[in-house]
Amino acid sequence: MANSDNSITIERIHAAYSAVRVLDDVSLTVGSGETVVLLGTNGNGKSTLMKCIMGMVRPYQGLIRARIDGQTHDLIGMTTEEIVDLGIAMVPEGRRLFPRQTVEENLLLGASRRLARARIKDNLDFCFELFPRLAERKNQLAGSMSGGEQQMLALARALMASPRILLIDEPSVGLAPVLVTRTIDAIKQLKEHYNLTVLMAEQNFTQAIRIADRGYVIVHGRIAFAGGSAEELNNNELIREFYLGL
Ligand SMILES: Nc1ncnc2c1ncn2[C@@H]1O[C@H](COP(=O)(O)OP(=O)(O)O)[C@@H](O)[C@H]1O
Ligand SMILES: [Mg+2]
Repeated sequence: MANSDNSITIERIHAAYSAVRVLDDVSLTVGSGETVVLLGTNGNGKSTLMKCIMGMVRPYQGLIRARIDGQTHDLIGMTTEEIVDLGIAMVPEGRRLFPRQTVEENLLLGASRRLARARIKDNLDFCFELFPRLAERKNQLAGSMSGGEQQMLALARALMASPRILLIDEPSVGLAPVLVTRTIDAIKQLKEHYNLTVLMAEQNFTQAIRIADRGYVIVHGRIAFAGGSAEELNNNELIREFYLGL
């Protein structure tokens, strides 16, 4: 696979919802093959940042570039569909499945990217291998699955688009601790299998840091700290105060 160079560069973006400023001068990079975590408690701008990358919110200043298979693209101004077609997929916060469609139907809906259509069978096989529960329940309605199963399905659906870069918005939210562990482990596995570049938003510091190469802390729409390694994040004062209660 020619997917050795897939990265994101965000430079000094500002974003707002009408008059309410939400992102203030945010710069962030995700290097090829890295897993980068965006840490922050509720309402600090994590989802907005991801939506900016996906073309769902348009920053009024700054730039967002992606390199996909070695080619550079300016994402600002592109539609979400065009961005997905490039090879960037997002697992949205709260899963956003189609509850009245079956597991398999939800997966097939993820394969909308042109390039992914040719790989439907292989991708489906891998999803069912990685998440045997989904195979067992492929004819069950998505809305009747447990929270953990729905998160697995949301991850699997994003993989059906054969992405190079995967954005995952708060995968742990609403899950029991054992399922959080399983979900984070699954992200590590699928990242390795597909050689993905991953940006993950999380509030669960301890879990996120198990698989992150490095990360950023976002507070009130500004990058408050950029940690060059998991260890640097672990030793950071903001993290110790907000997340670890030290
Ligand atoms: N569609 C929207 N319209 C207006 N304000 C919004 C919208 N989405 C988010 N916000 C506000 O933007 C801020 C950041 O939200 P969000 O990016 O969802 O943060 P996080 O994902 O870190 O919880 C919050 O104050 C939130 O209320
Ligand atoms: Mg959010």
